[in-house]
Amino acid sequence: MSFFKMPPQIVRLVLLVLLVGGSYAVARMLLVPASFGEYGWFRGAALEELAAPKPVLAGMKACDECHSEILQKVAKYEHKTLSCESCHGFSRPHADNPDVKAPKVKFADNDCLSCHQASPSRPLWLKQVEPLEHFRGDKCTGCHVPHQPKEIP
Ligand code: HEC
Ligand code: HEC
Ligand code: HEC
Ligand code: HEC
Repeated sequence: MSFFKMPPQIVRLVLLVLLVGGSYAVARMLLVPASFGEYGWFRGAALEELAAPKPVLAGMKACDECHSEILQKVAKYEHKTLSCESCHGFSRPHADNPDVKAPKVKFADNDCLSCHQASPSRPLWLKQVEPLEHFRGDKCTGCHVPHQPKEIP
């Protein structure tokens, strides 16, 4: 048969190609996730996985259930457009179960300044202060009540 007449280096080459091609096929079979290609060029199961995590923010409606007086109060003052969690941090575990403590607000000046520090990039309607010039020597919350910020404690 002519096959056996092939020069040995060609036979080895053919075997090598079969080996490489074969191991590629086996590796692909083992490594490609089961749901790949279900909908397109990606893992079908990825959609479910991405949709699974719960949002970390509870949203203000959740706070209303137990802190409605605070919501009503904040709504009357300048911080009415802020969500509770923009200052209090991610509070879903607490809102789901009040036995879990709300995140401790360790309110420092920087937390207020993250919105109020003077910067040309901020819109003019947002009142801004130059921290080195605006009343130094006390904490922001020493002079501003956070839920009604023009009030002095
Ligand atoms: C199911 C009722 C409930 C819901 C919903 C709820 N809370 Fe509370 N929260 C409580 C109770 C009860 C306390 C008082 C417990 C305490 O003082 O330890 C409290 C205390 C707090 C405190 C004060 C914690 C402290 O250390 O003084 C903060 C801040 C707070 N909640 C924020 C929130 C925010 C923000 C939301 C909405 C995302 C929220 N809570 C939703 C029941 C609730
Ligand atoms: C501008 C930031 C800011 C916003 C917005 C804000 N808080 Fe607060 N909140 C604070 C700070 C700071 C304190 C701690 C006050 C202190 O120590 O004097 C506090 C205290 C509290 C407390 C405990 C003391 C108390 O007054 O009973 C609760 C409960 C609370 N906030 C709930 C809320 C809820 C609910 C909302 C949304 C309607 C909200 N906060 C919006 C900054 C904020
Ligand atoms: C997430 C952004 C944000 C944070 C954090 C925040 N503020 Fe505000 N603040 C606002 C917005 C928005 C307004 C309403 C627009 C305005 O009046 O500048 C406002 C209004 C104010 C006003 C009223 C200004 C005026 O004369 O009308 C004061 C005072 C103030 N904030 C102080 C504080 C203090 C003190 C803290 C920290 C406890 C704080 N803010 C945290 C966004 C923020
Ligand atoms: C010693 C008291 C005191 C301290 C501390 C203080 N403020 Fe004020 N703040 C005031 C008074 C009084 C006003 C109103 C008069 C004015 O606009 O200068 C004011 C006004 C503001 C305004 C409105 C400015 C405007 O253009 O109308 C903002 C925003 C503000 N403060 C944020 C802060 C922040 C953020 C801090 C912390 C870094 C802080 N304040 C610390 C007393 C204080």
